[in-house]
Amino acid sequence: MSTAYEIIDHKYDVVVVGAGGAGLRATFGMANAGLKTACITKVFPTRSHTVAAQGGISAALGNMAEDHWEWHMYDTVKGADWLGDQDAIEYMCREAVPAVVELEHYGMPFSRTAEGKIYQRPFGGHMRNFGEAPVQRACAAADRTGHAMLHTLYQQSLKHEAEFYVEYIALDLIMGDDGTCEGVVAWNLDDGTIHVFRGHIVALATGGYGRSYFSCTSAHTCTGDGHGMIARAGLPLQDQEFVQFHPTGIFGSGCLITEGARGEGGYLTNSAGERFMERYAPTAKDLASRDVVSRSMTVEIREGRGVGENGDHINLHLEHLGADVLGERLPGITESAKIFSGVDATKEPIPVLPTVHYNMGGIPTNHMTEVLRPTADNPDAIAPGLMAIGECASASVHGANRLGTNSLLDLVVFGRAAAIRARELVKPGEPLRPFRNGCTDQALERLDRLRHAKGGRKTSEIRLDMQRTMQNNAAVFRTSEVLSEGVEKINGVWQQLADINVSDSSLIWNSDLVESLELENLMINASTTMHSAEARHESRGAHAHEDHPDRDDEEWMKHSLATIDDKGKVALDYRPVHAYTLTDDVDYIEPRARVY
Ligand code: FUM
Repeated sequence: MSTAYEIIDHKYDVVVVGAGGAGLRATFGMANAGLKTACITKVFPTRSHTVAAQGGISAALGNMAEDHWEWHMYDTVKGADWLGDQDAIEYMCREAVPAVVELEHYGMPFSRTAEGKIYQRPFGGHMRNFGEAPVQRACAAADRTGHAMLHTLYQQSLKHEAEFYVEYIALDLIMGDDGTCEGVVAWNLDDGTIHVFRGHIVALATGGYGRSYFSCTSAHTCTGDGHGMIARAGLPLQDQEFVQFHPTGIFGSGCLITEGARGEGGYLTNSAGERFMERYAPTAKDLASRDVVSRSMTVEIREGRGVGENGDHINLHLEHLGADVLGERLPGITESAKIFSGVDATKEPIPVLPTVHYNMGGIPTNHMTEVLRPTADNPDAIAPGLMAIGECASASVHGANRLGTNSLLDLVVFGRAAAIRARELVKPGEPLRPFRNGCTDQALERLDRLRHAKGGRKTSEIRLDMQRTMQNNAAVFRTSEVLSEGVEKINGVWQQLADINVSDSSLIWNSDLVESLELENLMINASTTMHSAEARHESRGAHAHEDHPDRDDEEWMKHSLATIDDKGKVALDYRPVHAYTLTDDVDYIEPRARVY
């Protein structure tokens, strides 16, 4: 290492990385448990990507009609195409009801029914009585539910004594020789200082990696930083091949139009003006699960029934709902349609296209958020001192395909679970392991290497190559040929990292350096996604493989585990899906055909 950095050392009981919904819920839960808690975040908390969630948070409150958490659990298992761990799914769906009531008590401004109850709308794949017909389960704050939730959680966190480190970039984990996580190294963008945050637990809540694709609904900050730190610590990433395409990104910009728009009665048409979802999903129609709707739209376009001059998108109709309903229930997307496609949604259809939206895979955890380090003897063995929550984690409640509104739920249920587990594991003030010389070497060597990188390729050029490869070779439909070409191409992009050029070596507000660190994280995600997808010879949930069009439970009802070394070499292993529930209250749901 060429630069000697002065290290500022911090001691906490617990350290949370990320301040979106999951990070904030964990942070104030841990602080409330009497634990000295730090929350490190690369953006101001209320700018975290949770703010962009629109349609709702699922919970079987039954405010609009009969509903039960067991129905919610069934829908989630089915939506996940039987790749989800049913113990974790039971935990999430059962806890959904108290989690939403808790949010209400925290002051979250939900929309209301005439009787003053929380308003709930239908959403894709949420059905009554084990698949009979759509049910209204998505608890909504108009179409700005994530915004309302994030601000509510941030306000709560201000009531507790958690300490926030804002605009700090987490570089790498500090791992002890015995594999225990001891803390995290971070760079303060504002003054260029380097910090070590030591704690008994580091909880990663760093979000997804949508920005590895060219077109996505994710914020520019969604660069899979926690995934990157886990991979550099030698730990595996799970089920990376399962990337969700949201059916209704605005054509051209990718900006999200909530599924709640179809929940309120919107529908899709092709160039013949046909409501084609009736053919693909006769019961749920436009409210089938997202993978089904995205595939159906793609087939319509491929078979020449797309709309527009080039037949390359689909129409979403809301105009029949009327200006009053749009103004009250869907004001945000009405505005987005105007800004991003120049369309007045009260008068004409919105042009839409399936767009990358969510990563079902991520850092493997158990249902109490502890990170797994599977061994040959124990596929559920734990990496001590590490937790992961929210989109960066794979508990696995979403399996091969997430149901809409289960992500906001995941954030609060597992953010709270992390706090509960931390309280069990850590005594306030318990002595930490001593600071070890050399414990920051990996992080600082990485920072130093990138700061002074003077190769021939700009960060933005390498990023574009990665994004194009992911968009073309790991899309809604995949084939063996396209995926093996994708593996070759993404390996080629990895080679370019050695030739990166970072324009400036400053440690103060150096956005090129930030983007280069993020690019390395994105590349870890892109590469493990492509390799895991190439290896999975079946179709399940969001992984639609045209050469292997059927789900193959005998061979493939298992989680992929991908590790990657610093040369970009990916090694794959597998872990069994949990074919059991958490309690005897519900039976394991046997795999069956998935029709909507
Ligand atoms: O369509 C939406 O409002 C997105 C919700 C979600 O991804 O959960």
